[in-house]
Amino acid sequence: HKMNVLHWHLTEDQGWRIEINQYPKLTEVGSWRTEKDGSTYGGFYTQEQIKEVIAYASQRGIAVIPEIELPGHSVAALAAYPQYSCTGGPFEVETDWGVFKDVYCAGNDSTFAFLENILDEVFELFPSEYIHIGGDESPKFRWEHCAKCQKRIADEGHHDEHELQSYFIQRIENYINSKGKKLIGWDEILEGGLAQGATVQSWRGFEGAAEAAKTGHDAIVSPTSHAYFDYGLEATDLEKVYSFNPIPEGLTDLESKHIIGGECNMWTERAPQNTIDSKVFPRILAMSEVLWNYPTERNYDAFYDRVQNHYKRLDQLGVDYGLETIPVHFNSEHTDGEFKITLKPGTKDLDIHYQINESQVFQYDSTFSVTGTNHIKSWATKGLKTYGEAFNIDLYQHKGLDATISGLNEYYEGYTGGGDNCIADGLRGTTNFRDGRWQGYSGQNFTSTLSFETIQKVDSVITSFFQYNLSWIFMPSKITVYTSVDGLSYFNRAELEPQISAKAEGEFFEEFVLTFPEVEAKYIKIKAENYGKCPDWHPAAGSDAWLFVDEIRVY
Ligand code: ACM
Ligand code: ZN
Repeated sequence: HKMNVLHWHLTEDQGWRIEINQYPKLTEVGSWRTEKDGSTYGGFYTQEQIKEVIAYASQRGIAVIPEIELPGHSVAALAAYPQYSCTGGPFEVETDWGVFKDVYCAGNDSTFAFLENILDEVFELFPSEYIHIGGDESPKFRWEHCAKCQKRIADEGHHDEHELQSYFIQRIENYINSKGKKLIGWDEILEGGLAQGATVQSWRGFEGAAEAAKTGHDAIVSPTSHAYFDYGLEATDLEKVYSFNPIPEGLTDLESKHIIGGECNMWTERAPQNTIDSKVFPRILAMSEVLWNYPTERNYDAFYDRVQNHYKRLDQLGVDYGLETIPVHFNSEHTDGEFKITLKPGTKDLDIHYQINESQVFQYDSTFSVTGTNHIKSWATKGLKTYGEAFNIDLYQHKGLDATISGLNEYYEGYTGGGDNCIADGLRGTTNFRDGRWQGYSGQNFTSTLSFETIQKVDSVITSFFQYNLSWIFMPSKITVYTSVDGLSYFNRAELEPQISAKAEGEFFEEFVLTFPEVEAKYIKIKAENYGKCPDWHPAAGSDAWLFVDEIRVY
């Protein structure tokens, strides 16, 4: 598949995975973690094993680029050597995934000596001309409260912690360059000024790559929208990967030359080994093709047919490839008091079946209608076999379906939920916040006005919000419902302060029922206050919280 670089992410909050002779505790302590059930998980590659991997790759024309993360994502290292943090620790290797506020101290010269010694051993092992130093998701909270880091900012004439991050990266880059090597970092290294010869790996979209290329820096493009193969098929299916164009829009030919490649990222720490084949294949086939040809040469149908043939090869190789897409794309439109439901097969050669409220099974052939609140189950078959998992959804009939929605704040482009109307379309998001139904707001309140053509009698509003604190998504601090008959004077009808602890773990949503004595209303306004900043106990303390909303039901 002509993948010619292995970018090997060797250090994380949850584990240090490379043996370093000068610092044995990095692996003795940093590569093991105590899971919530009390078991121990971990391991690392010895230098001998790493040499074997590099040699194996090299025989196949594949370069191996190591990534040693700094200044963030370094809790495993700090668990072993807490003296290189701002607070001195102690720390434990993290068990949850996420972003953590304990990072290397930028005010401490011994931190740099420590990192340079590690890099020396890494350079000994890896012949690659590049070294990846991470640089992503490094909260500034500790630096803001650290006397040494603040002194560094003052001594160096910097203005803030972003410039301190830039200082950190540039100091490391100077060291890397002095050893004849080149630095790669995630797109956050653009913040506060880019190190001179750095190559940027754009992951939070294409903007980082575009900015790098426009300022004469090389860039690698691997945005979460197309290139994160740890994400599910509902976010990134085969066709979506095939639509990836690694050259960001708006670059001149000369600037485009700075785009030196793309990557598909398989973050394995939370993907059991036996699921990795199915996440990587067949999506990597699409990635391979779009990294090696031009947009004018792309034809999804022709590619799709070749993929079907390619499966025979993958079978021979024992690759346990996964699905191309979710089995069924569900769409419903509410008009004239009914839901018109269209089911689209995720890919060719699938038959779709459905069932309403667990009664008779139908084979789907065209759009059908239902009225009222119903449970719909749908699944696909390919030949005689079921393809993927069944799709289940509750479709809610309620008054809000006929309302016009206005007054929304700006929701994030990656979490539109399907647009303004998705918040009153009868469908509520699932326990997967990336399912395309949740609407996400970063650091902002949710406000919306539902306007009706005629006066309605209403006595309750039901809303749902999501919480997943490791992804900075919190319940609102307060929900208020107002009604109006003229769109001018609004009356506060009900308020609710969710009682769910911000510390409550896991990914879940909660339904909030706001009831009031029946009133007449032509306008209903719902306001939900964003939780604010991630609190001090939170790994990403001080960062803007997300608010995720779906389905405002009106009765
Ligand atoms: C990243 O996914 N944090 C680079
Ligand atoms: Zn510090």
